[in-house]
This record gives sequence, C-alpha cells and structure tokens, in this order.
Amino acid sequence: MIATIRPTLLRRTAPKPFSVVSALLATFLVAGCSPDASTAPSAPVSAMSRESGSLDVRLRNALRGSGFTGQVGLTLEARLGRPIDRELAELGRMLWFDPIMGLKDDNSCGGCHSPTNGFGDTQPIAIGIDNNGIVGPDRRGPRNQRRSPMAINTAFFPTLMWNSRFFSRSGDPFDNSLGFTFPPPEGNSLSHLSHLLQAQAFIPPTERTEAAGFDVPGNSDALRQAVLDRLNGNSAYRELFARAFADVRNGGPITFDHFGRAIAEFEFTLVFANAPIDRFARGDSEAMTESQKAGALLFFRRAGCVGCHAVAGRSSEMFSDFRQHVAGIPQVTPSLTNVTFDGPGANEDYGLEQVSGRPADRYLFRTSPLRNVALQPAFMHNGAFTTLEDAVRYHLDARSQGPAYTTAALAPDLQGPTGPIEPVLRRLDPLLRRRVVLSEEEFTQLVDFLREGLLDPAARPTELGGLVPSTLPSGRPGFRFQFP
Ligand code: HEC
Ligand code: HEC
Repeated sequence: MIATIRPTLLRRTAPKPFSVVSALLATFLVAGCSPDASTAPSAPVSAMSRESGSLDVRLRNALRGSGFTGQVGLTLEARLGRPIDRELAELGRMLWFDPIMGLKDDNSCGGCHSPTNGFGDTQPIAIGIDNNGIVGPDRRGPRNQRRSPMAINTAFFPTLMWNSRFFSRSGDPFDNSLGFTFPPPEGNSLSHLSHLLQAQAFIPPTERTEAAGFDVPGNSDALRQAVLDRLNGNSAYRELFARAFADVRNGGPITFDHFGRAIAEFEFTLVFANAPIDRFARGDSEAMTESQKAGALLFFRRAGCVGCHAVAGRSSEMFSDFRQHVAGIPQVTPSLTNVTFDGPGANEDYGLEQVSGRPADRYLFRTSPLRNVALQPAFMHNGAFTTLEDAVRYHLDARSQGPAYTTAALAPDLQGPTGPIEPVLRRLDPLLRRRVVLSEEEFTQLVDFLREGLLDPAARPTELGGLVPSTLPSGRPGFRFQFP
C-alpha cells in the first residue's frame, strides 16, 4: 500500500518525466527477439567482463545495468500528478466487492481478483458467473479461458491483459495523449479518461461470462446502462458518488466515467512494490539473503530472464517488457467452460491472434510481470502449473518438457486432454530455445529470488484481508472468502 512510502523519501525521489516510447501498433504489441532500446540491458562492458567482486557488488552492477532503481513504488502520485483521492478509492473498494456491478448478481471484480491472492485469481482459470459464492480453493462453476492476473501494481502497466489487448499508445498508462486502444466496439473511444485503468473498468461489467450473464439483452452500452440504472436507483451509492463527484451532488446521474474513476482510484492504492529487491537497490544490503541475491544475479545475468521480464523504461520496474512472446505453455482445457476455445478441436488458446486476427500472432502472450508472484496459486496464463518450481523448471526448457507435460497436478476438471503442443513449440520464442542449464543449487536460488525477493510483504493475504467490506452499500450479501 501507499503506506509503505515514507513522505520524506517521496519528496527526494522527485517526479522524473516518464520517458515516452513512441509506439507504432505493430512494434508495440509484437515481440521481436531483440528488445528495443528502452528494455535492452545495457551493462557497461567492463561490468560484464569483470564479474568478480562480492555478490553485493555484482548484483548492484547488474541492477544498475538493467535500469533497476527500486524506487518505482514511490512514483505513483508524481506520475498521477495529484495525490490519491482517498474517498473515491473507498467508493471503488465497495464497487470492487459488490455484485451490484454483475448483472447476474453473483460476481464482481473481487470474485476473481481476490485479496487472498494479491487481488489475483484463486483459480488456475477464472470462474465467473454461476459460481458457488466462494472465493478461494473451493470456488466452483464453469470456467472462462484464462487466469485472472493480480490487479496490484497494474497502475504501472502500459498494456493490459494476457494478450495486451488494452493499451496506451504512448507506452505510458498515465498518458492518454495518443489514446487508449481497445478491441471493438470500444476502439479508441475511452481515450478521454486520464489513466488506462479508468478505461479498463468499462469492460468487465459487459463480459457475459464474467459478470453480466445472459439474461439482459443488448450490446455493451445496454449492459453498462443496466448497471448504471442499478447504481442510480440505490440511495447508498447515490450518496457515495455524490460525495466524490460534484455533478452527481448537483443531481446529475452516475455515469460510467464515474464508475471507472472510482475503480481505478482503488487500484491506485494497490501499489505493492517494496520488495527485498527494491530495498536492496535502494541501499539496504541486508534486505536480501545470500541465496536471493545469487538468484537475482542469475535472473539479471546468465539465465537471461530480464531479456523479457524487463525492468527499464516503460516496464516501470514491473519485470515485464509488456510484449508478446510464445513461451510454449501447455494448452489446458477445462471440461466445463462457458467460453468457446480456439482451434479445430476447440481446445486451444490463440492468444494475441484472437484480437489481431493475424495467424502469425498465434500463441503469443504477454510476458508476465513477476512482482509478488508468490501470492499466486497457479502459474502461466492458464494455470498449467501449481507450483512455482514446476513453472520455472518447464519455462527453462519448454522444448523438451512440452511433450512430457501432464495435467496430473491440476484440479479434476482440468485433467482432461490438453490441446496440441507441437504447433506451440514450433513457434517458441528464440530466447527460450536456448536451454538454460542451472545446477540444483542455482535453481533453488532462482526460485528463492522469485518467491521471496520479489514479494512485498504488505501484499500478503493477512495484510489485505481488512480490505473486504463488512457490509456492502447495495445490501447484497458478500462473497465467502477463504483466507489461508
Ligand atoms: C470472471 C472473473 C473476472 C472478473 C469478475 C473480473 N476480472 Fe479482471 N480479469 C480476469 C481475467 C481472466 C483477466 C485476464 C483476461 C485475459 O487476459 O484475457 C483479467 C484482467 C484484468 C486486468 C488486467 C491485469 C493485467 O495484468 O493486465 C485488470 C486491471 C482487471 N482484470 C480488473 C478488473 C476489474 C476492475 C474488475 C471489475 C470491474 C474485474 N477485473 C472483473 C477475470 C476477471
Ligand atoms: C522470451 C521471453 C521470456 C524469457 C527469456 C523468460 N520469460 Fe518468463 N515468461 C514469459 C512469458 C511470455 C510468460 C507468460 C507465458 C504464458 O503464460 O503464456 C512468462 C511467465 C513466467 C512466469 C510465470 C508467471 C505467472 O504469472 O504465472 C515466471 C515465474 C517466469 N516467467 C520466470 C522467468 C524466469 C525465472 C526466466 C529466466 C530463467 C524467464 N521467465 C525467462 C517470457 C519470458
């Protein structure tokens, strides 16, 4: 939370203008094998060849060379250009958890983006409408297609979703000057909003399998109007919106701009970027264990992870280049789903091709931002792995592990036959074709870094549980959260 920021530090780390990378759609979305200048690790040659010195010195050189400062969590309000509006964020928190926004009356953002898991999924593949009211390991119902990513830190993401289908054309989610692009029907129509997350909030209430259901007819505008009718008809929400917005106070209707701004404001409070690696980068050598430091050095150097899980420039130190790559992930298909999967066997996920329509974009998924990855119960876009160890072991050598993958570790409804893997592996990203050989000790160090070195302790479920409202403004019953 923002509470992790000391005000003095905030003043000292002044608002640096965010470097805007001009973004042509094609180069912006699609991965090349060579990262662009803003993400390329640019360690001085001397530092590369002289990998001697203490572990601390080598890691500091590697971090500096990769553009990592550990300060990004302190930059939110500077980039926003104003302080967070606490009252508005509070309203956003209520909406987050209130099924009043789900026209099927059984889901809201919080059903899929849960504080039990860093505001990410409790499931390997999301369960939307027709769920059993539980948010946790015992959630049941028909599955959608992908795992809900963690909403924490999304304030800094220049592209959203597993296939980056919502993005800010300036490469900066805080800068709408070149517009925000969504697939049709929204297109560029949400570009008047000042942050990408305000625009993103327009989408989930219109998703029939996620929250809206199939009872209310009409297009996305009709579904949004139905949600607004509910909010405008509710005196508690009228009052909360009136407190935050003068036009509502003066008798005007609650609009979707208001809704989006409230949701985004709550998301702005969910910045958790004060992990051991950040504290180390800011000068605290004790912040990481020797094992985490060794793992970090592998990540930034020999194992080549930072080539995609980038930290420089528009990555905002989120451990993603926010580009698309084929990582060769097995195609898990639920036995009960309310989404039509891709391919002749309806057992595939075409990733970016779903939105671009270009066969060349098949199986491309956005590099996962890795902060707080330890909070996830499952890994990759479809939860194909249930432990971080399994996910990383596979990722290090997808080419030979792909054909041997089994669903044995997954929930029963995900154990059916997987979609074809050969066509996926044929398109494997060049950077992942090179097999990274690590000793068992190095592997353990790498996982230790990912699990502990990237975890902001303030994002643990014990810390976030207090954000679940005890009662909801709509008077509806809340979900049953299963906190560990
Ligand atoms: C049915 C479960 C479900 C509900 C309900 C839901 N989401 Fe999501 N959310 C997902 C899934 C799944 C994805 C990724 C989808 C994809 O990439 O195709 C996602 C993606 C996102 C992202 C992008 C994260 C990233 O890393 O790019 C944000 C932000 C987000 N959701 C916010 C919200 C908000 C705000 C609400 C409520 C207004 C909401 N979601 C409701 C499942 C859900
Ligand atoms: C070619 C680019 C690339 C390289 C290099 C790369 N990754 Fe990834 N990584 C990805 C992509 C893309 C995904 C998401 C794949 C998916 O779900 O379809 C991913 C996912 C992950 C995940 C799962 C995160 C989650 O949200 O479930 C972890 C952990 C991870 N990578 C760690 C690493 C580590 C450690 C290295 C270095 C050994 C590495 N990656 C190298 C592109 C890359």
